[in-house]
Amino acid sequence: MPQRPAQLMLAEHQEARRILAELGALLGAATPPEISSPLERRPNMAITATKTVRELAVEVPNATRVFEKLGIDYCCGGDQPLEQACATANIAIDDAVRALEQSTSNPANSVAPDWNLAPLGDLVDHIVEKHHTYVKTEAPRLQALIAKVVGVHGKNHPELEQVQIAFSALANELAGHLMKEEQILFPYVKQMASGSGCGPSCFGSVHNPIRVMMMEHDDAGKTLREMRRITSDYSIPADACISYATLFRGLVEFEQDLHQHIHLENNILFPRAVAMEQ
Ligand SMILES: [Fe+2]
Ligand SMILES: [Fe+2]
Repeated sequence: MPQRPAQLMLAEHQEARRILAELGALLGAATPPEISSPLERRPNMAITATKTVRELAVEVPNATRVFEKLGIDYCCGGDQPLEQACATANIAIDDAVRALEQSTSNPANSVAPDWNLAPLGDLVDHIVEKHHTYVKTEAPRLQALIAKVVGVHGKNHPELEQVQIAFSALANELAGHLMKEEQILFPYVKQMASGSGCGPSCFGSVHNPIRVMMMEHDDAGKTLREMRRITSDYSIPADACISYATLFRGLVEFEQDLHQHIHLENNILFPRAVAMEQ
């Protein structure tokens, strides 16, 4: 199901409020009752040092972008309180809180869909259409680019071959992982969310495939960290050509997209699916 544009939802919400205001005036009410839009409501949005990174990633608009910039792991290592994550990443807690607060005051962020409130089927469609499509398109492109860069620079930069091996393993693991989600787990979650009832599954509780998916996410996260270590945080050497720089930029983008993808599954989709089953 295609995702409805945020602007359209906001326009509908504004129209609903206008109609309520007219009704209120007709009935003699002083002010129309306040209704909240899924795009405006952000529950429990207090930013504190003791909240976990995962809680903040779910509650604060664009927190994931802030965490990405600060080098804080929010998808697989999100159980840590913010203050502990900042200490690990060597960042002052006040700076992190300030950056998170600024992300909430940016009006451009207020129209981002709140996936905690959107229909679960829409979230599944969003993950497949945006993030699975991205992996399927980008992984082969980057593998071809790595082969080219290893061919030219591999002699002077032997670490590139390690990057090639790590990325190739990651791409293979992701291909199987996406297939399991698209063919087994996601159709089941969508059927549950539709309210039409689920027949017996081959995996028992939805908890079982989710546990496997989360273990595979952890493995992918480890490979991404290993690639960062090998490349010294994707530092581009002085003798790099344009393809070399393009490759490293592409790998950083791939990492960011996979973090966002895993965040939506680990922190929002999976907990909601488990809660729905209970
Ligand atoms: Fe996925
Ligand atoms: Fe996944």
